[in-house]
Amino acid sequence: VTPHVQWNGKLDVPAGLRFSHDQIRAGLVRATTDPGRVGQEALLVARLCLPHFEQEEKAVFPVLSLLRELAFGEVRPEMATILPLVIAFSEWQESLDKQHEVIASAVESLLQAAYREGNREAAEVAYGLKVHERVEADAIYPAATLVGKYVREGLKLPPISRPEA
Ligand SMILES: [Fe+2]
Repeated sequence: VTPHVQWNGKLDVPAGLRFSHDQIRAGLVRATTDPGRVGQEALLVARLCLPHFEQEEKAVFPVLSLLRELAFGEVRPEMATILPLVIAFSEWQESLDKQHEVIASAVESLLQAAYREGNREAAEVAYGLKVHERVEADAIYPAATLVGKYVREGLKLPPISRPEA
């Protein structure tokens, strides 16, 4: 049973999400040192992913620092701190979704190059990234949107008149 965890009031990136981005960053940096095609493809993926990760760490992941408390507790007035992030996320969501598409095709090229060259380590990095981005699109982004809606409703604020509404 997940213990009741009280939100510390800080807009931190939940540790698990931070670790997964850090792990991918480290893997990509290693893959870029490959002197051949794998290195070129990895560089392309890194150029797309690094700013994308930063944006997620700024506007999406911190919203989820409230998730565990919200799952077991109530909306508290100080949770309004996240609302500017929720608005930023709803404004960026379309562009983040597009970035996911562009990243997915670059990752596919990296994966193919890694298979062709028998570079198992780079293939694992690419596959891990592919899964990670898919989990974001299927679970993390919708969860962040839900947290925003739930907090707004709990504080009796009108919904954001953006695509999430
Ligand atoms: Fe992402």
